[in-house]
Amino acid sequence: MAKAEPRPGRNDPCWCGSGKKYKSCHSAQDDKVESFRLKGHMVPRHSQLKTPEQIQGMRDSSVLNMAILDAVGESIHAGMSTQEIDDIVVRLTAEMGGIAAPLNYEGFPKSVCTSVNSQVCHGIPSEKDILRDGDIINVDVSTLYKGYYSDSSRMYIIGGKTDPDRANVVEAAKACRDAGVAAVRPWITLGDVAYEIQKVAKQYGCTIVREIGGHGVGIEFHEEPFVSYVSRPGTELLLVPGFTFTVEPMINAGKHEIYVDQDNNWTVYTEDGRPSAQWESTVLVTEDGCEVLTC
Ligand code: MF3
Ligand code: CO
Repeated sequence: MAKAEPRPGRNDPCWCGSGKKYKSCHSAQDDKVESFRLKGHMVPRHSQLKTPEQIQGMRDSSVLNMAILDAVGESIHAGMSTQEIDDIVVRLTAEMGGIAAPLNYEGFPKSVCTSVNSQVCHGIPSEKDILRDGDIINVDVSTLYKGYYSDSSRMYIIGGKTDPDRANVVEAAKACRDAGVAAVRPWITLGDVAYEIQKVAKQYGCTIVREIGGHGVGIEFHEEPFVSYVSRPGTELLLVPGFTFTVEPMINAGKHEIYVDQDNNWTVYTEDGRPSAQWESTVLVTEDGCEVLTC
């Protein structure tokens, strides 16, 4: 069991920076967190819970993030290269005063991930990759704005129509993300959220990628913890108001196994060559449920 975090005195200022006395601010919430910790739950540290000011920063960042995905959706078409998507993301992010987080992140060479068909994630935009009618593509946009990160991704079906295997996995991935987001509320665990996603994936006859998942987000691009969507109910981190993370299960039409491109060391593919899809939201755990920051 992790150790209890030091707490301020009852009349000292709250750790959240509200300026209020601890006893009339986060003290009751901390008591509840402590009772879960004593029962053996993993619980977030104070530094993993966002203050009202940080939450507003994340909301503002999310506005840019979603505007960029809206613009991608309006211009995406057959005959376009995935590099042109990168160009749109670079231009719009700069125009709105933000920074595209993927560029140079652990050496990633572009400003957005574009993952087509059997690519699971971390597809690298290229002039050589031309979109064709019936392709399915995930565009994953991560935005830094005034010090705050937002992260979301959507699927696009080029030309609006595709084959049943691809169409089903796109729908499944959206339903999985939506079920995960709908489940988010305080005093349940990340495993409970994952379990809701697992039920939906099963209904669609799809599988969930195990090795890659979501993450805390906000002050850093990737904050603790790693968020698995194959974890068991009642396990993993306790959700507490102020915690922000991504709901972004990667859903495969066939088997869950994946491999990483040996040439670029980034792009992840399905082992069986069947399609994969992903929709991603950034969410905030609130007092009574969830605020969707990006979708
Ligand atoms: N949204 C993706 C993630 O959360 C973006 C990865 S950017 C990359 O991991 F630079 F790592 F590719
Ligand atoms: Co993410």
